[in-house]
Amino acid sequence: MRVNLVSSKQEELGKFECGPTERILYAGLRTGLPLPHECATGTCGTCRAKLLSGEVEDLWAEAPGRKALRTGKGEILLCQSLPRGDCSVGIRMPRPAAGESQPIPSYFTGNVQRSGMLTHDVLILELSLDRPMQFLAGQFVLVEVPEVAGFRAYSMVNFSHSTERLELIVKRKPGGVLSNVLFGPRLSSLTFKVFGPLGTATLEPDEGGAGDLVCVAGGTGIAGIMAILARASESGYLDHHNAVVCFGVRGLADLFFLDRFSGLKRKHPETLKVVVATSEQGVGSAIREMHPEIEFKNGFVHEALAWQELGNFANVIAYAAGPPPAVEAATSVLLTKHRVPVNRIRFDKFG
Ligand SMILES: Cc1cc2nc3c(=O)[nH]c(=O)nc-3n(C[C@H](O)[C@H](O)[C@H](O)COP(=O)(O)OP(=O)(O)OC[C@H]3O[C@@H](n4cnc5c(N)ncnc54)[C@H](O)[C@@H]3O)c2cc1C
Ligand code: FES
Repeated sequence: MRVNLVSSKQEELGKFECGPTERILYAGLRTGLPLPHECATGTCGTCRAKLLSGEVEDLWAEAPGRKALRTGKGEILLCQSLPRGDCSVGIRMPRPAAGESQPIPSYFTGNVQRSGMLTHDVLILELSLDRPMQFLAGQFVLVEVPEVAGFRAYSMVNFSHSTERLELIVKRKPGGVLSNVLFGPRLSSLTFKVFGPLGTATLEPDEGGAGDLVCVAGGTGIAGIMAILARASESGYLDHHNAVVCFGVRGLADLFFLDRFSGLKRKHPETLKVVVATSEQGVGSAIREMHPEIEFKNGFVHEALAWQELGNFANVIAYAAGPPPAVEAATSVLLTKHRVPVNRIRFDKFG
């Protein structure tokens, strides 16, 4: 089926083919068109568009992103709409077209090669794809498994220019349909449909305006930031730029990746600082002695961020990821306390 994409000024932005079982957003993105989106899974409302002609099937009537739709205006969520024939959709603000360095997403198939528990409710898994994926550090993929309606977003922890191996971390959401399947006995036998890569909270060391890095993550929000740190480390970026990472969890039972942080800090003792904040209970002397490279704070992650002195940081690029309240609190600190310009803050809200 043919989808015609039009701007609010009635300019033609492009035409693309979309299969009868394919979401209009994904079909447009894999054609390289600048469709607006953030979560790509029905929660944020960013992919709001006006159906100008034709019919679509709405896949998820309860999608939280529908709150962004204006009633009676024929608006749809592109990430939850299948075409029922040729149609024409109008978008208000196209995303800037993907640059040469921004990989165009497509579909892959994946199986779990390895998995293990990082904490009582965080799982790490290695997804092996049917062919290599090119992605940027900080990007995410959408995954779908049979019998569970809808795609879910997970950020790559690893970085490689092109790889068949995606390392993901998954938080078990209470009552969460997919995460509970992933924590169950069927994990290793599941076949995943994967769409990606997506996301603009990325680090490309060669991009213009390079600067010092400020990274803030709540819980599994650390996933994409680990990829950014891996990229910054292997490319030599951390030889010339400072970086501070603030990682927040609730309590001792929720801590993970401490060995990875310690290893990174030992590699970049002059430029990297790692701060781990626990909001519910302080970290005892045993953990502090095991990880002398890490600074431990008792408090919320945005408080740990506010306590940082960034006087010697220049041209900051900031990253914030995790639950929306943590990202919003961190963004507020970045803007008001650290005076980071809004266009230098990149974020992924996990909700
Ligand atoms: C950009 C981004 C990156 C993320 N990265 C990570 C990460 O690295 N690690 C991590 O743990 N979490 C990450 N998350 C959060 C993760 O996507 C959610 O925790 C996950 O969707 C929970 O799925 P669930 O099935 O367990 O929960 P559920 O509450 O059952 O489902 C949650 C989501 O699934 C989709 N969904 C649910 N029902 C339907 C339906 N009927 N039809 C269509 N769609 C449906 C919606 O997107 C919904 O928000 C990320 C989120 C975003 C937006
Ligand atoms: S991109 Fe469609 S609701 Fe978020």
